[in-house]
Amino acid sequence: MKASRRVARLALGSIFAALCSLPAGAQNNILDPRTLAPFVPTPERIVEQMLSSADVTKDDTVYDLGSGDGRILFTAAQQFGAKAVGIEINQALVDETRARIAQMKLEDRVQVVRHNLLEADLTGATVVTVYLLSSTNEQLKPKLEAELQPGSRVVSHDFRFLGWKPYRTVEVPGETRAHRIYVYKMGEHREQ
Ligand SMILES: C[S@@+](CC[C@H](N)C(=O)[O-])C[C@H]1O[C@@H](n2cnc3c(N)ncnc32)[C@H](O)[C@@H]1O
Repeated sequence: MKASRRVARLALGSIFAALCSLPAGAQNNILDPRTLAPFVPTPERIVEQMLSSADVTKDDTVYDLGSGDGRILFTAAQQFGAKAVGIEINQALVDETRARIAQMKLEDRVQVVRHNLLEADLTGATVVTVYLLSSTNEQLKPKLEAELQPGSRVVSHDFRFLGWKPYRTVEVPGETRAHRIYVYKMGEHREQ
């Protein structure tokens, strides 16, 4: 079996395993027809690698599309000094993220909006992070191309953007499987 197929199969296995251990509020959200991917958090070590692979600095504004429990937002703000915006459809996860923003006193740098990521305004982002499915990435492609400035980076955990050329691909060993990180630069992302 090709390595990329094995990674995709293992990623899907992790998604189903994680689904079984979701809190009740997050599970209910699967019934929301706007839900494009289930809540499966990126391991903290992979979060750090995603942000460093995209060369995130204090001058960046990181948008996490489908921000889950907000972990990418918190790491972007606390370890990389960036501003961070989460777009999340699940109210229980939005509430959890807002509570942690207040607890960590990060209101000036981190916010989360309850919104459908396919309808959100992304023009303020210099870096977009996603841990979604290939089908969702397909839906997102024209929106990212229309709304992001040249030089902005798009970072995807495990699921690549078909037909786009990553300028960096990183494989990180995890506890149960290898994780792939794909980094694209807008303006240089199209395959010739
Ligand atoms: C695989 S999780 C990733 C969570 C987080 N980004 C991370 O990497 O830890 C996908 C997230 O997308 C959210 N989501 C699914 N469809 C969405 C939509 N249409 N708009 C906004 N968020 C959505 C889910 O509720 C879930 O929290």
